[in-house]
Amino acid sequence: MLYLSPPHMSGKELEYVKKVFESNYIAPLGEYVDKFEKSIKNYTGAKNSLAVINATAALHLALRVLGIAQNDKVLVSSFTFIGGVAPVMYQGAEPVFIDADAYWQMDVNLLEDALKKEKPKAVILAHLYGQVGKIEDIAYLCKKYGVFLIEDAAESLGALYNGKHSGTFGDFGVFSFNGNKILTTSGGGMLVSDNDKWIKKAKFLSTQAKEPYPWYEHETYGYNYRMSNVLAAIGVGQMEVIEKRVKRKREIFEIYKKELGTIAEFMPEIKNSRGNRWLTTLLFKDKDPFEVMDNLYKHNIESRPLWKPMHLQPLFRNTKSYINGKSEAFFKKGLCLPSGTAMNDDTVRRICDIVKSV
Ligand SMILES: Cc1ncc(COP(=O)(O)O)c(C=O)c1O
Repeated sequence: MLYLSPPHMSGKELEYVKKVFESNYIAPLGEYVDKFEKSIKNYTGAKNSLAVINATAALHLALRVLGIAQNDKVLVSSFTFIGGVAPVMYQGAEPVFIDADAYWQMDVNLLEDALKKEKPKAVILAHLYGQVGKIEDIAYLCKKYGVFLIEDAAESLGALYNGKHSGTFGDFGVFSFNGNKILTTSGGGMLVSDNDKWIKKAKFLSTQAKEPYPWYEHETYGYNYRMSNVLAAIGVGQMEVIEKRVKRKREIFEIYKKELGTIAEFMPEIKNSRGNRWLTTLLFKDKDPFEVMDNLYKHNIESRPLWKPMHLQPLFRNTKSYINGKSEAFFKKGLCLPSGTAMNDDTVRRICDIVKSV
């Protein structure tokens, strides 16, 4: 089976994991956790970082540190994956969904409308499919209305706007290293922020909120969210090739665009930005994406519909949303194509031939 975005190792990971075994720091923490956190800081320019078990946990910590609690409203991208929304529910807070714009990212006008009417505490903005939208405008609006901005950069490690990394515009950013992301640690996440007090608090909460006593003393409850040294060693090996991976993802996108540009529209890239093209995603002009998906599957090729917008999910039937119809239309016409960086050009063209033949 040719998967959508399978892991692609650099070749160094096993060596680093071996070092972890030799040191016997198999248990949580150890030098590779520090190294992995440092490599993310160096690469993204974030001042502080915290390695955790996944991006969902990282988002949860951000909300908890910011004091988002029961009955608080959080404005969230509707066109996204549930992992970017579930932490709002963990906190007993109320999500309010904001639809997408022509770049498939959070719509600034709808956001401003909701900021005025809803009096939210925070915004969680997804950089969807590795793309940055109007992030500077959104960061400006959040400041203007006194609302925290959390960037769900789970899919967008390596994406830039005006040379600045996604995940570093807001109060917090989170990255995911799950199995299908541009880099993987098998499962993992990173919380970043320029505010060192917040990251210290998140670290405290991520290790069961233990007070500094010889015994276990607790004034509040925390979570068991820290990343293990073994997985961090994989992350260190992966970070060595991040720019190579972004380059290859973008090359794969260009081949698809050249081959399928007459039968489909591709997710546009906003001026002065560089997406990481985590997945090549398109909107068919005439073809039925589900028929294309079935045909690819018959050839042992995985493809996937776009994210079903949150405001259309049964779970959020009664949730307030600011909608313009865009993400619903994207969902109906769109498809994610295989975008694994180990794939060669001929394989990409073979996929295109099958798509064209449907
Ligand atoms: C937009 C988005 N947010 C959050 C997540 C959750 O990340 P994780 O699986 O690391 O918890 C993912 C991916 O899984 C995602 O694509």
